[in-house]
Amino acid sequence: MPAEQSSDRGRSEQPGAAGSPGMAGSANGSVRPVASGAALPGAGTSSAGIRLKGVGKRFGNVVALRGIDFEIERHSRIGIVGPSGGGKSTLLHIVSGLMEPDAGEVDVEGATSAKDRLARCAMMPQRDLLLPWRTALDNAIIALENRGVSRKEARAQTRPYFERFGLDQFENVRPAQLSGGMRQRVSFMRTLVAGKDVLLLDEPFGALDSITRAQMQEWLLRALSELPRTVLLVTHDVEEALLLSRTVVVMSARPGRVVRTLAADFPTDASRREIVTSREFVDLKEQALEAIG
Ligand SMILES: Nc1ncnc2c1ncn2[C@@H]1O[C@H](COP(=O)(O)OP(=O)(O)OP(=O)(O)O)[C@@H](O)[C@H]1O
Ligand SMILES: [Mg+2]
Repeated sequence: MPAEQSSDRGRSEQPGAAGSPGMAGSANGSVRPVASGAALPGAGTSSAGIRLKGVGKRFGNVVALRGIDFEIERHSRIGIVGPSGGGKSTLLHIVSGLMEPDAGEVDVEGATSAKDRLARCAMMPQRDLLLPWRTALDNAIIALENRGVSRKEARAQTRPYFERFGLDQFENVRPAQLSGGMRQRVSFMRTLVAGKDVLLLDEPFGALDSITRAQMQEWLLRALSELPRTVLLVTHDVEEALLLSRTVVVMSARPGRVVRTLAADFPTDASRREIVTSREFVDLKEQALEAIG
């Protein structure tokens, strides 16, 4: 199905769901973005969300990140775009608590130590990293098992997600028998059922063709509207960042710095086609691409 036919963007969204406040669709079809969800740099402090202040990281002589500042409210979504090698994955590792910065402060829902940040974040890596010998269901329960939940209980908790994610009847199938998009959904499910409030997605759809990718973007928005989370999404695709995030942070080449912050909260009742062809979207895309340089 071509992306343009996917006109149900956010159709299943519920009141109060991510992306619903601040809609700006108008009678003339304008799909103006609204900066409602995520705070822009310097726009106050929110201990409930994520805040980075002056974050820097160096690996030997390589300065990966320098002076990174941004802030995101709880259950909002921020997209991070920038050139390869600009420190985006490093940034996710720092937020997640897998790594400490050399400089600056990181606050994830009030947690500042690496251990406490780790407890609040779940990461979805670029490659799905599903274990080939485990069924889809047993791949999805790994985080729960790691937390000490019995396999029987973890399976019972996770099984209902398969229907919700369009994977019913695929619980007992091995990853090799799933399509790329299905594997990504199992991988996302695994990230989600970990029960963490913060999701760090590193190029989640990077390996998919453009049609599957567009479908997965729609699907992700719906999933997040039903199960709101705070999301940091790293992507090379500016259009994807603008469609999926409320705020897009453009990073420079190494050493990675924030060079531009764009409000991209498009109305959830507009179709994907309406959004991507709107003047507002095209303008923002242009601004982001210009900032990337
Ligand atoms: N563990 C590490 N040890 C040494 N150098 C590292 C390490 N992790 C990252 N780097 C270096 O830091 C820089 C930023 O890497 P990072 O993976 O964060 O970039 P990126 O923006 O995610 O790139 P891409 O878009 O290609 O995924 C690179 O020069 C990389 O070589
Ligand atoms: Mg990376």
